Amino acid sequence: MKFCMPKKPKFYITTPIYYVNDKPHIGHVYTTIAADVIARLYRELKYDVFFLTGTDEYSLKGVKAAKERKMDAKKYIDEMAATWRETLLSFNLTFDRFIRTTSPEHRKAVELFYNRVKTKGDIYEGAYEGLYCEGCEEFLTEKDLIDEKCPDHLKKPKKIKEKNLFFRASRYRDALLAHIQQHPEFIAPLSRQNEMVNYIQNHFGDISITRQNYEWGIPVPDRPGDVIYVWFDALINYLSGIGFGVDEDKFTRFWPADVHLIGKGISKFHCALWPAMLLAADLPLPKQVYAHGYFTVDGKKVGKSLGNAIDPLDIKKEYSVDVFRYFVLREITFGQDGDFSLKRLKERYESDLANDYGNLVSRFCMMAETFLDGRVASVKTEPVKDRAQKLMQEFKFSEALELVWERFAWANGYIDSEKPWELAKRADGREKIQEVLGKIFFTLKDCAETLLSVMPDSSQRVLDSLSQEKIQKVEEPLFPKKDEKNFNF
Ligand code: MSP
Repeated sequence: MKFCMPKKPKFYITTPIYYVNDKPHIGHVYTTIAADVIARLYRELKYDVFFLTGTDEYSLKGVKAAKERKMDAKKYIDEMAATWRETLLSFNLTFDRFIRTTSPEHRKAVELFYNRVKTKGDIYEGAYEGLYCEGCEEFLTEKDLIDEKCPDHLKKPKKIKEKNLFFRASRYRDALLAHIQQHPEFIAPLSRQNEMVNYIQNHFGDISITRQNYEWGIPVPDRPGDVIYVWFDALINYLSGIGFGVDEDKFTRFWPADVHLIGKGISKFHCALWPAMLLAADLPLPKQVYAHGYFTVDGKKVGKSLGNAIDPLDIKKEYSVDVFRYFVLREITFGQDGDFSLKRLKERYESDLANDYGNLVSRFCMMAETFLDGRVASVKTEPVKDRAQKLMQEFKFSEALELVWERFAWANGYIDSEKPWELAKRADGREKIQEVLGKIFFTLKDCAETLLSVMPDSSQRVLDSLSQEKIQKVEEPLFPKKDEKNFNF
């Protein structure tokens, strides 16, 4: 008889793939950190996780940036893609694959996808005339402009007139609206749903998906000289990243995605164009598109093309990765817009991390060792892990962190009111100190476990210093005698 182990449930999460015309800024790292926290959390919950990120390399912006630097486009883009990958890795981001749209597998997937949609009769030839913003990689209408300029990139769009192929997206409008109605979780947070429904009802229609005479892009299989429109190509990364057309087992295991995590600025592409493309290709739709907010830096909009982007690597010179990961998720309510400032980062580092958490660990370790030789009582405390993890699964990171910090506040207050250093002076005080420090021990352990996905490195160090099995019995020493008196993040 053959026994089969039950298969673990799967969880597939993606970030946008990033343009490589410049280095990453903190906004890009922000999205990828949030995805990483979710990926780590689901791994802890024993899911078979696939976490995909990568670079969107066929944008004209990349070629332009190469030209400005008098570099060969391919060479520049290869170098930038490596920089992106390394920067993201240096933030302890555990993606399973870094997909590049210039890779042969991705090109194969795009060709396969294009042919499927074409066979379906959803691609036709038409003439296109419009205003194209290279920053957005999108046609804009007069209505979108302010002072004749794109409001996001502050540049005048180009007039383009050409014969293109169109994708018959209008055919899927009703199916899409019905899907959104039947699956209220499809567009998250819920507050973004109305805006998208309104867009699909009133503005979403057939879209030009090829460009004439571009040297940079995936060639249209049956139209030499033309290339596929960068968004039609880029969205397909969510399929090519898990082996569409190359590794059917992997593809069927992970598709549909459980969540596409994006910034709100690219919601239209993900909530309208992408699902319409999937319907045309007879593929299931992702379970959720979660669009988070944007943050400003010191009150100003941040962007590569606006020139005020903070280099995440500069922050790393002063603070550890864990500090930055904690800060962005605690400071900005995920899903909403917020502001990033180095001043707030310093404040939160000093108050929340060094003071509330770090001092608690150091105080506890010192007292347990000094007063009890590491032996604390095994007592019950109020655990926070399950509730906090549930909040994180709903992308409510700051609420989850608040719960944990409430426990730290409780623990610090409890130590102050019980005063173990005074109990230590009493002949009968030992049992009480064991109980007090036992409660602190289990609170710290529960909190550090909860924080593993957000602050993986420091949480693991806290857990190591608490080495749990040694305190199960009061008679056994809690710590190997090592110096944990100053806990640094
Ligand atoms: N290449 C497209 C996405 C294609 S996905 C199939 C693109 N790239 S991008 O380089 O411009 O990255 C945009 C993403 O970066 C946003 O969706 C968001 O996730 C992140 N952010 C960029 N600036 C940001 C802020 N100021 N604040 C928060 N996130 C930001 O669009």
